[in-house]
Amino acid sequence: MLKRWNLRVWPSRLLLRYLVVAALFVFFVTNYTAWDHIALLPARLSARGPHPIQKLMADAVARHEELLAKRSYDLETAAARYRERRGRHPPPGFDRWFQATVDHDAILVEDYFDRIYKDLAPFWGLDREVLVNRANTWDWVVRVRNGIANGDGNTTDRVPWLQLWTKLVDEFAVHLPDVDMPINYMDEPRLLVPHDEIAKLVEKEQKTRAMPPPNRVTSKYIGLAGVDASHNRPYRARWYGTKNAYWNLAVAACGPDTPAYGVKAVKDFSAPAEMPHDWQPDYAYHGFIQNWTASMDPCLQPHLRQLHGSFIEPLSLSTTKELIPLFGGSKLMLNNEILIPGAMYLTDDEFYSGGESHGPEWSQKRNGLVWRGDASGGRSRNTTWHHFQRHRLIDMLNHTTVSRMEARRMRAKTFELPSPSIYHSSRRAWGRVGSWLREFADVGFVHLCPPNECDFLPQFFAETPSKPMSEQYEYKFLPDADGNSFSARFRGFMRSTSLPLKATIYAEWHDDRLIPWLHFAPLDNTFQDLYAVLEYLGDNDGPGDRAAAFMAQQGQEWAERVLRREDMKLYVWRLLLEWARLCDENRDTLGYVADLL
Ligand SMILES: *[C@@H]1O[C@H](CO)[C@@H](O)[C@H](O)[C@H]1NC(C)=O
Ligand SMILES: *[C@@H]1O[C@H](CO)[C@@H](O)[C@H](O)[C@H]1NC(C)=O
Ligand SMILES: *[C@@H]1O[C@H](CO)[C@@H](O)[C@H](O)[C@H]1NC(C)=O
Ligand SMILES: *[C@@H]1O[C@H](CO)[C@@H](O)[C@H](O)[C@H]1NC(C)=O
Repeated sequence: MLKRWNLRVWPSRLLLRYLVVAALFVFFVTNYTAWDHIALLPARLSARGPHPIQKLMADAVARHEELLAKRSYDLETAAARYRERRGRHPPPGFDRWFQATVDHDAILVEDYFDRIYKDLAPFWGLDREVLVNRANTWDWVVRVRNGIANGDGNTTDRVPWLQLWTKLVDEFAVHLPDVDMPINYMDEPRLLVPHDEIAKLVEKEQKTRAMPPPNRVTSKYIGLAGVDASHNRPYRARWYGTKNAYWNLAVAACGPDTPAYGVKAVKDFSAPAEMPHDWQPDYAYHGFIQNWTASMDPCLQPHLRQLHGSFIEPLSLSTTKELIPLFGGSKLMLNNEILIPGAMYLTDDEFYSGGESHGPEWSQKRNGLVWRGDASGGRSRNTTWHHFQRHRLIDMLNHTTVSRMEARRMRAKTFELPSPSIYHSSRRAWGRVGSWLREFADVGFVHLCPPNECDFLPQFFAETPSKPMSEQYEYKFLPDADGNSFSARFRGFMRSTSLPLKATIYAEWHDDRLIPWLHFAPLDNTFQDLYAVLEYLGDNDGPGDRAAAFMAQQGQEWAERVLRREDMKLYVWRLLLEWARLCDENRDTLGYVADLL
């Protein structure tokens, strides 16, 4: 998928930037050797050289620079890169959008918008009228008419998402054609179209992809007056509720060549959570995540059917196999929602954003890790809770639990200690992981469940006083795990001076613009790599500490460049231009071609 970048378009200031980053990196790598604590390294690898995380970081720097080298600074280049990557003319309004990227000093790299095209592709395969009608009659819709955005739908007793998204769209609605953006009001994604059907729809999209000669291209939308006047009844899809195992619905969307294909849901979860044996996935390098995209894919990890709350018992479940248009803040890679930035990223609520405090300098931080949050992830029952991702994470970081496991050489209900054949560790060998966590980790659930719904949990977890984000930022490490869907704190964590460590199965709008091992540290959804990552990065004053400081700083600076409210606005603006074109009767001839005339 990677196109080689063209040296001619590499501006000198980028080159300079590259040299600075490269020099920094070489400095930190060479310094590393001097500081090498043999005892803390996997024996097999230390004989051969650098820690695997160093290699992954070097690759990440290279990947980042490779993408940045494709930055567009003028409209002609931006439009040309669009045509090259998308195989179509840009949508009408592209010029005004481009101008807004300039006005906001945004970094425009075409690849950062790939998500939009992955999400929209199957919708090109649907009959246009059907599509437009379904979007128009949905229960909650952000409607743009005559340059004004309005939120349409009953939001009584609901979170203010419709309002937050409407407000964002209204900031640029004046530059949009009429468009309907139907939104998913549930935490959980709802569309799971079987694999073969999606493959057919995507194939249809490929057939529609064309660049007609400029004189045949129009910038005139027919618009939505037709569907507004028709007063159609809302379309009612067939919904599957909580009686169904979500896993079974989900794997129907996996390709026949994937390990999860045909694997059935677990019915009885009462046994301890089962860790995959000697788990060394293709997407990892010496046990550390190398391909972040693949690490989010349940089709590659059949064990997730009993290691993630979404597949065990989601709090709410209402899902369909039909392709209907819905926009939402997160989804599994298998889902068919169209992603927009999560509404929680648009609030000023300090609970999610951490407010304006981003934390002290690295050297002033506690060398440790902190986590506070709800015991969410799914509906807790005495027979299932120990399979949930958050419960696993908190138990793995609980020094009492781990010390007890080390002393008695037994497993916990929630996890097994990682395989020493994959992760060599002196702490592990000496049975000192628990005593190390006692100093290092400050974690706990703020809230276990609604009253009387989980009497079985307090013997395993203590409700722990919450800690404002600003105080959490006094620690170096911030692990982040999915709740009922994506964790809405990630953007706040990215903007902090601390280092986020993240495992997830939920895709988000920003995935194509963040580089793991440069902007944050990725974790496997089993968390089997957790101790090894912390053992390296948490090595105070050693090379790992410098690596962590480097990523924390790079991540924070990058978040201030590409995860701003302006960037979320530009993403949704670009998406709605595409969506409006896709919904228009003229969709095959609509385009921006002024640069070619
Ligand atoms: C709006 O939703 C609330 C809460 O679900 C409900 O009580 C109310 O009847 C709804 N209003 C309308 C106009 O449908
Ligand atoms: C990473 O994994 C994804 C999804 O499995 C795959 O499409 C992609 O080609 C992989 N990338 C690399 C660099 O191997
Ligand atoms: C779970 O609770 C039910 C009753 O609420 C009880 O009968 C059962 O033994 C419990 N199971 C476990 C594994 O604790
Ligand atoms: C840690 O585990 C012990 C034993 O399972 C439990 O009693 C304690 O409440 C846990 N601590 C937290 C903060 O959950």
